[in-house]
Amino acid sequence: MSTASDLGFQVRPGGRLRGRLRVPGDKSISHRAVMLGAIADGVTRISGFLEGADNLATLGAFRAMGVPIEGPEVGRVRIAGVGLRGLRAPRSDLDLGNSGTSMRLLAGLLAGQRFATTLVGDPSLSKRPMRRVTEPLERMGARIETTDPGTAPLQIAPVAGLRPISYAPPVASAQVKSCLLLAGLYAKGETCVTEPTLTRDHTERMLAAFGHPVRRAGSRICITGGGRLSACRLDIPGDISSAAFFLVGASIAPGSDLTLEHVGVNPTRIGVLNILHAMGADIRLTNPRNAGGEPVADVRVRSAPLQGIVIPRDQVPLAIDEFPALFIAAACARGETLLTGAEELRVKESDRIRVMAEGLAALGVAVEPRADGIRIRGGGYGGGRVDSGGDHRVAMAFAIAALRAGAPIKVRDCAHVNTSFPGFAALAAGVGLGIEERRA
Ligand code: S3P
Repeated sequence: MSTASDLGFQVRPGGRLRGRLRVPGDKSISHRAVMLGAIADGVTRISGFLEGADNLATLGAFRAMGVPIEGPEVGRVRIAGVGLRGLRAPRSDLDLGNSGTSMRLLAGLLAGQRFATTLVGDPSLSKRPMRRVTEPLERMGARIETTDPGTAPLQIAPVAGLRPISYAPPVASAQVKSCLLLAGLYAKGETCVTEPTLTRDHTERMLAAFGHPVRRAGSRICITGGGRLSACRLDIPGDISSAAFFLVGASIAPGSDLTLEHVGVNPTRIGVLNILHAMGADIRLTNPRNAGGEPVADVRVRSAPLQGIVIPRDQVPLAIDEFPALFIAAACARGETLLTGAEELRVKESDRIRVMAEGLAALGVAVEPRADGIRIRGGGYGGGRVDSGGDHRVAMAFAIAALRAGAPIKVRDCAHVNTSFPGFAALAAGVGLGIEERRA
């Protein structure tokens, strides 16, 4: 019997990327648009929504809690918000599939409800650490049970209300920050989060768009509970995390000239641009504008010789999802690239340090994985078979790697690409990647 995990990519070596394309909507922003639209008063209309499996899991969860949602249809979603206290108990567990963002943010939003919920996920999500959210939520008075190792299922018991807290998370995580800000909506008084380093601020921006601004003073962000959110219109920018594969692909493939339209360039997400610039990439932003409180631009990238670098630690949270692609850039660069301070990569959809190091080694790249990062010796590689570890971003990174490989690259276990980038293979083939999808 053929299963979804039998889907693989077969990619011809060489070629170049040319033309214009628009990557699908931002995954992080799409999640937040549904969550805030659902608990707002009035009708929220979204365009540019990412119709990937992760975001559909979030949509499904709110439908199961009684929120009338139409769509998605070509990126358009209409949500008839039920207000802060209008969600209803779901009839069964909320299945969030592969999506860590859905689970951690929903834990915050549901911790203060007067009904019980159980959050479950797929085998990958069920291995990921959840105490980083359940511990501070319990301090707010939430009652949440995890498994012994602190993983899903999360069983959230009903409570009458939450207490505000001031919390400094030990890890730099936008998911933890966002979880607590959402829980703070249900607490009496002011809930504050102090970030160890800057992380993506989509929740803060979107709360402001819904008329419920947070206050930021330095690294401390505070929200006052209660009040109401007012529905709005949201145009979601293209996902810079999806654009990253093309930024790297066009940089490493000689003769490339590619323009990515309407890409989100929020300063808390552009670590990939900063790192590629430091490596010598030729990337230019044009036509800067604003979409629903988020900065957007068209991004033109032309091939350029890359140089290995020591990746600045402050860029790590700003490029946290882009390292699989950046490791491919490093493998094509002259000299060595060193990444440190990135232990979080070990608890993403896969252990991205291990899975990327194994794949790069299979292609003949000299790599030295470390507990908190990796050292990669650049200079090129051959072809071969690599395993994505069931991780969407690893699968796409190795597909793009073929542009500079000496022989074809076969990537196993690519079905999860659909969680963040449905249509990746067709879009990439349209601008010059020699990619075919194969069922084993
Ligand atoms: C996300 C935050 C990041 C990122 C994830 C999406 C978000 O996780 O890796 O893909 O939408 O808030 P952490 O905040 O846990 O680093």
